[in-house]
Amino acid sequence: MSSDKQDVIVLIGAGSIGQAIARRVGAGRHVVIADLHRENAEAAASMFANAGFTVTATAVDIASRHSIEELVQLVESLGPVYGVVNAAGVSPSQAPVEAILKVDLYGTAVILEEFGKVIARGGSGIVISSQSGHRLGSLSAEESDLLAMTPTEELLRLPFLQNITSTLRAYQLSKRCNVLRTAAECVKWGRRGARLNAISPGIIITPLANDELRGPRGEGYRTMLANCPAKRAGTPDEVGDLAAFLMSERAQFITGSDFLMDGGATASYWYGDLQYLRRQSGQGDNNV
Ligand SMILES: NC(=O)c1ccc[n+]([C@@H]2O[C@H](COP(=O)([O-])OP(=O)(O)OC[C@H]3O[C@@H](n4cnc5c(N)ncnc54)[C@H](O)[C@@H]3O)[C@@H](O)[C@H]2O)c1
Repeated sequence: MSSDKQDVIVLIGAGSIGQAIARRVGAGRHVVIADLHRENAEAAASMFANAGFTVTATAVDIASRHSIEELVQLVESLGPVYGVVNAAGVSPSQAPVEAILKVDLYGTAVILEEFGKVIARGGSGIVISSQSGHRLGSLSAEESDLLAMTPTEELLRLPFLQNITSTLRAYQLSKRCNVLRTAAECVKWGRRGARLNAISPGIIITPLANDELRGPRGEGYRTMLANCPAKRAGTPDEVGDLAAFLMSERAQFITGSDFLMDGGATASYWYGDLQYLRRQSGQGDNNV
């Protein structure tokens, strides 16, 4: 039976990075924009509608499985789910440890699980992780396996996720988990003929990044930008370009991968001019 419904691209998190991606992959498709704050989703949807996109705005709280399941139902009712972009998240300066783990770590895992049950053949997903996950010192093989494969409802009970006192550490662990989860879930997405990848951006100028630049770690971030190989922050459009490629037919051999795009800042953190940040932390896991 043929359907005249348009393919759907769902954007979760209506911030600048997510919008830049959806603008590039949403033409000729039905773009669903979902955000914790309905007004964010509606403001973005209004810009998309004025630029010629078919668009629906809705609210979702990715800290809640029920809310994600409702979103999946809505999206499926509109047409085949061709693209999933998870660009929702909270940063270390925006939220306490529990909220970071619930939104960034658990929420992303549930999105990958639930949309992995409905993604269309030929479809693909993008998870916006962060360079922060690449700054975390090594985890044990067992910890990595647990982050990758623990059933979603048990994730937040993992022993090494208890008693975290630093929001930065919670964020780094969440973003590492996003990448590991992307690799583990891409296997299931592949069974449906779909692909899944992550992008780990460095500092991209958005309201979230501006909160960080003005926050308690602001000076560290500004120094990092001045001394990284690119000598500047990135822009949402640059992330959008990479995501558009990864979601295109030209990237059909790419799945389960993570793409660090940070102007070389992480390379410099481990091996170059920014090594002093690593030395300051002592552990290599507690810095910008
Ligand atoms: N901006 C950067 O420098 C940077 C760098 C690396 C990674 N990231 C990641 O990129 C993603 C997007 O960041 P951004 O800079 O566009 O930020 P942003 O704050 O502009 O957008 C994030 C959006 O997520 C939404 N959101 C927050 N909690 C939510 C929840 N529980 N359910 C649904 N939506 C929720 C917010 O309302 C907001 O609209 C985040 O995951 C962030 O960690 C950003």
